[in-house]
Amino acid sequence: MAAPPRPLIAGNWKMNGLRADAVALAVSLKERVLAGRALSCDLLLCPPATVLHDVWGIIRRSPIALGGQDCHPEDSGAHTGDIGAPMLRDCGCSFVIVGHSERRTDHGETDALVRAKAAAALKAGLTPIVCVGETLAERDQGRALAVVGRQLEGSLPEPSAGGIAVAYEPVWAIGTGRTPSNSDIAAVHAHIRAALEAAARPTTRILYGGSVKPGNAGEILALPNVNGALVGGASLKAHDFWAIAESCP
Ligand code: PGA
Repeated sequence: MAAPPRPLIAGNWKMNGLRADAVALAVSLKERVLAGRALSCDLLLCPPATVLHDVWGIIRRSPIALGGQDCHPEDSGAHTGDIGAPMLRDCGCSFVIVGHSERRTDHGETDALVRAKAAAALKAGLTPIVCVGETLAERDQGRALAVVGRQLEGSLPEPSAGGIAVAYEPVWAIGTGRTPSNSDIAAVHAHIRAALEAAARPTTRILYGGSVKPGNAGEILALPNVNGALVGGASLKAHDFWAIAESCP
């Protein structure tokens, strides 16, 4: 079995942060990285597109990486309001989130579109973080594993296209303060790990996302096949995001 990948703690700021807020948060995190003891994880910030440039100016000479929250499947063109993966790369990004459940819900994104976005990200030199996760109804019907498996099958780009990360985010756990039991998280991550091994992607990071906070991060990050976290609400507070990063085993 391959060695587990180094954990990644990613902050998804969503549609939050004016420039002053974003700068203050990035400065605070950079200071902690430079002053503190070495973390056992990698750190990634995914701010809104409007502040990517400001945040990059702060973290570019630090070990913190920058990511976008979405990209268009095409590099450029007549797509008002959208952002191409090469544009993110040009702003300092090395990652991009694709297929977040809020985009799947708010913008009707399908697995096929998510796969095309992931492929575009890889072509531009970005690592896509491909998000999957079941709704509460699907979990209650005992279909969580089947739904996640189907989303993976439809959303992952060809292995030859390059390395990716996967984020398991149960839709009902996002922003609600509720999380699955540790055994449920471990079961889904084992299922994803098996699917990734079958797809010739054995060393892919599998992040957990959905109401991760300082109080539960340690136990979640210690579960088998959990290789980091995608953090929403708690990533907007430097103290909480840092405490989550410090919880990595
Ligand atoms: P949350 O969001 O941590 O606020 O639940 C996670 C996410 O949507 O990525």
